Amino acid sequence: MLAGKRILLIVTGGIAAYKTPELVRRLRDQGAQVRCILTKGGAQFVTPLALGAVTGDKVYQDLFDLTDEQEMGHIQLSRDADALLVAPATADVLAKMAAGLADDLATTALLATDKPVLAAPAMNVRMWHHAATQANLATLQGRGVTMIGPDNGDMACGEYGPGRMTDPLDIVQAVANFFSDATLLAGRRAIVTSGPTHEAIDPVRYIANRSSGKQGHAIAEALARLGAEVTLVTGPVALADPAGVTMRPVASARDMLAACRDALPADIVVCAAAVADWRPAEAAPEKMKKGGDGPPALCLTENPDILATLAQAGPRRPALVVGFAAETETVVDHARAKLARKGCDWILANDVSPETGTFGGDANTVHLITATGVESWPRMSKAQVAGRLAERITTHLTNGGGAGGADEAAE
Ligand code: PMT
Repeated sequence: MLAGKRILLIVTGGIAAYKTPELVRRLRDQGAQVRCILTKGGAQFVTPLALGAVTGDKVYQDLFDLTDEQEMGHIQLSRDADALLVAPATADVLAKMAAGLADDLATTALLATDKPVLAAPAMNVRMWHHAATQANLATLQGRGVTMIGPDNGDMACGEYGPGRMTDPLDIVQAVANFFSDATLLAGRRAIVTSGPTHEAIDPVRYIANRSSGKQGHAIAEALARLGAEVTLVTGPVALADPAGVTMRPVASARDMLAACRDALPADIVVCAAAVADWRPAEAAPEKMKKGGDGPPALCLTENPDILATLAQAGPRRPALVVGFAAETETVVDHARAKLARKGCDWILANDVSPETGTFGGDANTVHLITATGVESWPRMSKAQVAGRLAERITTHLTNGGGAGGADEAAE
């Protein structure tokens, strides 16, 4: 299942570290090659000797070990891996990963990598539930880190609940699933739009909106993780580029449409961008000056509709065109009308009223509307929305264009 896969296992300082020799054995049983980084904390629970014996390789511990740097630099360690697996992943290492800290070999390798990262969290139940840990998890999942567990159970500290590291055999299964999922959309091309557009008023001013790009970027990342060849056409955002996608940064709606057209043909289109419906009819060539005539009147003109354009019937029409509907009232009804008006196949309706925190936040509550019905998903992180949508898209395309599982049901 994992034949030839090179796993860089990062063992951090939780009691569950004692299970990692077993984890290494199980990974190797499946044909994986395993190399270990052991943190100072991890070494309190499992010895480098034990991990060295089961990996048959040197165990790397010190960032500033000159011999190590000559033999195998910290960059090379992650470069030589197909994936990094952090197990156990303590609350501390998750916080460091989320903050981008690099104060030891493990966190430096994690910051320096462009390879997929999986993490099996393990910590006390209250640490798990703490708002800081949950925010770190959302950040990391938004950046494409795959979480494995944790499980519920009795913990070493005497408490019960979520926080126990997933069993080594189940971790191995999750790693194997990760690699097999990576081919589900192989050979499929996808275009995802994300973020706001900026519509120039003059060389220094523009009209924009509150979209952060978090939802669109997460969708691009989720589709790429399933093996799709993804072009992410994004308006101006302050986010890291998702792993494994081709970036097409743009500013205005017209730029966005041109970039989407360039990226055709595609099998899948997901329009998550908050495109400005209108732009100033004429951007002033020079910075507008305050004058004696009072504030200038803005004359607006309509922007092209990217979703409706890409959904138009024709030989280049993608097999599946998915839109979003940003609504503040009667969300599903308005979204249904948009689906029909724009001619897309599916639409994800989300409530963007200020109190929902959808714009810019880490979570979303969506209703997937297709020709066969409405599927209301519970509130979840934008990364989870992306993962679920990517799963539905995969099922739809591999079933030859079925309804994709949307029924008149609320969860
Ligand atoms: O970016 P985040 O902070 O993570 O927030 C996510 C989001 C709220 C922006 C996202 O989930 C979302 O709802 N995106 C669509 C926003 C929007 O513009 O909705 P709309 O109802 O105005 O447009 C409907 C659909 O038409 C959308 O798919 C939009 O991308 C598309 N559209 C709209 C206008 C236009 N000129 N061209 C388009 O393609």
